[in-house]
Amino acid sequence: MAEPKSVTVRVPAKVNVQLAVGGARPDGFHDLANVFLAVSLFDEVTVRPADALTVTCSGPDAGQVPLDRTNLAARAAELLAARHGIEPHVHIHIAKDIPVAGGMAGGSADGAGALLACDALWGLDSPRAELLEICAELGSDVPFSLAGGAALGVGRGERLTELPVGGAFHWVFAVADGGLSTPAVYREFDRLNEGVTVPEPVAAPELLDALRTGDTAALAATLANDLQPAALSLRPSLAATLETGMQAGALAALVSGSGPTTAFLTKDEESARAVAEALTASGTCRTARVASSPAPGATVL
Ligand code: C5P
Repeated sequence: MAEPKSVTVRVPAKVNVQLAVGGARPDGFHDLANVFLAVSLFDEVTVRPADALTVTCSGPDAGQVPLDRTNLAARAAELLAARHGIEPHVHIHIAKDIPVAGGMAGGSADGAGALLACDALWGLDSPRAELLEICAELGSDVPFSLAGGAALGVGRGERLTELPVGGAFHWVFAVADGGLSTPAVYREFDRLNEGVTVPEPVAAPELLDALRTGDTAALAATLANDLQPAALSLRPSLAATLETGMQAGALAALVSGSGPTTAFLTKDEESARAVAEALTASGTCRTARVASSPAPGATVL
């Protein structure tokens, strides 16, 4: 069979409906109970054969995306190629729609997308377990970007158990000006918890039930992000964004992952549009996006 000329993979953003963070480990990482939910904001990663490994990016925030080997998409191509003793000679194009450096795993999405795309382009047909292993090497959130749907991540967040979801949830994401560095937010978490015995992170049974039954009100009552105080400490203006969304009718609001994107759970799609409009008009965020969940994981188009 002739090799394809290019492969495009669509890959979703995520929100953490629960992010329970334990104390710092000797390796600097934190043990997590991380309940991931994929949402319908997508990047598309296209790979095609080239003379060398290159990355380009398009989309409104493309200027903020690194195009060198620090881009997780480039690293994914390198890791997969190295395992198979081939050269990672591909051009990777990222059509970016996921907010950049926002706590929505946009960089992780591109890593998972490039991995799946290169695997198909090179005709490797790697077992799923091997792809997930490479994802975990790329970063804590990358395995979930490949998997999609909903999952509990433990360890660094990379060891996944798929979770059932019984219905659709509607969200608004308020995108802040500028990003927040994930390591800086974890460092702030450590600073705020100095001298405190941080409990073992565990997923809340009520939250898992709410996902399983598709109960929006129950999910709203149980959303929790242990990184939120740290993100608010580094970016106090996010409090006004959270407040604005709640006043506009959101059922619950929280910082998405390490931020600074904030997430608002709404009753339905119509309410989501109203909350997005209010957030945009308020000037407390750069832009607001409507999305739903769950969304499928990385998919070859
Ligand atoms: O794994 P990833 O590269 O996404 O992690 C980025 C940074 O976030 C790490 O270098 C670390 O500072 C922090 N982190 C953490 N504990 C985790 C995941 C990430 O401290 N479980």
